[in-house]
Amino acid sequence: MSFRINVNGNDHQIDADPETPLLYVLRDELQLNGAKYGCGLGQCGACTVQLDGNAVFSCVTPVIAVVNRKVRTVEGLGSIDKMSPLQRAFADEQAAQCGYCIAGMIMRAQALLDLIPKPDETQIRRHMQTNLCRCGTHMRILRAVRRAAGLRVDGHAAHE
Ligand code: FES
Ligand code: FES
Repeated sequence: MSFRINVNGNDHQIDADPETPLLYVLRDELQLNGAKYGCGLGQCGACTVQLDGNAVFSCVTPVIAVVNRKVRTVEGLGSIDKMSPLQRAFADEQAAQCGYCIAGMIMRAQALLDLIPKPDETQIRRHMQTNLCRCGTHMRILRAVRRAAGLRVDGHAAHE
């Protein structure tokens, strides 16, 4: 079946089984390799992208479900030469160890900051809890999200 999808503002003609996971199309057809295959079951978040602004697991999203919607991947935020503020914050906080989870972490965090530019600590933790980091850099990831939001990176309120 042939259909069009929009990724990072660009339209692409795709020939695929409609049930093909979006993650496979991104990586194998469009060479957008930021989103990673972790569990393939919607349980780790390595494959997270934005769909109409919301964070979704692309490994369990059939590609047909994104027709007439807008997909954004980490490549759509910025590049190594021109990082987005959130990407810059992850780099500044050295929030990656192996890096496998990071594109998904960034896209999940971006969805939060798009909706709530200055989230409180509970909102950040609740929003980020679906994404797992096997290296255990969660505390640095939280610092990076706070930094991008212009909050105190240690997580304490300014008056404390
Ligand atoms: S690879 Fe998609 S949630 Fe784990
Ligand atoms: S940095 Fe290795 S899984 Fe998160």
